[in-house]
Amino acid sequence: RFAPRVFSGIKPSGGLTLGNYLGAIRRFVEVQDEGRFETIYCVVDLHAITVWQDPAELRAATREVAAGFLAAGIDPERSILFNQSQVSAHAELGWIFNCVARMGWMGRMTQWKDKAGKNAEAQSLGLFAYPSLMAADILLYHATHVPVGEDQKQHVELTRDIAAKFNHDYGVDFFPLPEPVIEGPAMRVMNLRDGTKKMSKSGESDMERINLTDDADTIARKFQKARTDAAPLPETVAGLEGRPEAKNLVEIYAGLAGITPQAVLDRHGGQGWGAFKPALAELAVETLSPISAEMARLVADPAEIDRLLARGAERARAIAQPILERTFEIVGM
Ligand code: ADP
Ligand code: NA
Repeated sequence: RFAPRVFSGIKPSGGLTLGNYLGAIRRFVEVQDEGRFETIYCVVDLHAITVWQDPAELRAATREVAAGFLAAGIDPERSILFNQSQVSAHAELGWIFNCVARMGWMGRMTQWKDKAGKNAEAQSLGLFAYPSLMAADILLYHATHVPVGEDQKQHVELTRDIAAKFNHDYGVDFFPLPEPVIEGPAMRVMNLRDGTKKMSKSGESDMERINLTDDADTIARKFQKARTDAAPLPETVAGLEGRPEAKNLVEIYAGLAGITPQAVLDRHGGQGWGAFKPALAELAVETLSPISAEMARLVADPAEIDRLLARGAERARAIAQPILERTFEIVGM
């Protein structure tokens, strides 16, 4: 009943990281190129402001994330690429879903618990409710599949719960129940200073993440300083258990090379970090430098990025507006 359609987004809450690339953007490009789905990709600035953003930095990060999509291979003709706040239907459907979703559902989200920590009272209401806006982002296009990193799978499940409750409460079969897309292993790239936390653009220190705009020296220095234990690399993946930092670096290598972690250990097992880290840095530079060069070229012409985003928003609106209007009708508006 629903055409195969993919929606996914990235927050412009800072520059893009290797985690965004391996866990999300690279897969978005694969899904686009595979051609089985209509693909809609969004720079989700309404999500970014759930935590205060400097306005000038938000504007710059919005263009940088758009440039990252394009540089990695998103084709603005084959995919719809746009900026969330330019399509007001996201906020409108988000409000309706705030009235469908339950407080308890939000409170159980592990990302909320991680981010709010012991200081929930001081967080914005938007940060608490953001999975409901994310459900609106997806369902506004009747998207059937959502390619996200492993860290977002719980929010896709919540989106299904919201769709199901809306359909049930209003006695309709209007919203699809979207599924997470698993194209290859869903990668979770961890922080270089603390292997138990995910690498994030909004993390505390620049040394804990690889930015897509980092130059070769910076990438080498960050891997050099990455925290590890003293033991050499094991010969098998079983030997990575209980060694989160070692596991992360091996998985990053595997992700960049497009091979399994065991294949990395077949090649590098028994080596010390003094040998492995430079090899990893070299591979990262080789993979990322064409992307960062293209990003720099694109960001140098902000008017062109804005033009592409405006065109993308127009195409997004053409799909979203009829779905929003039908939702209002169902609700009695
Ligand atoms: P960030 O945490 O860097 O702010 P977002 O929350 O905007 O990133 O997430 C954008 C996309 O990137 C999502 O699909 C998310 O699953 C993916 N992603 C973000 N960080 C990582 C990571 N460390 N490993 C794998 N995927 C990630
Ligand atoms: Na984040």
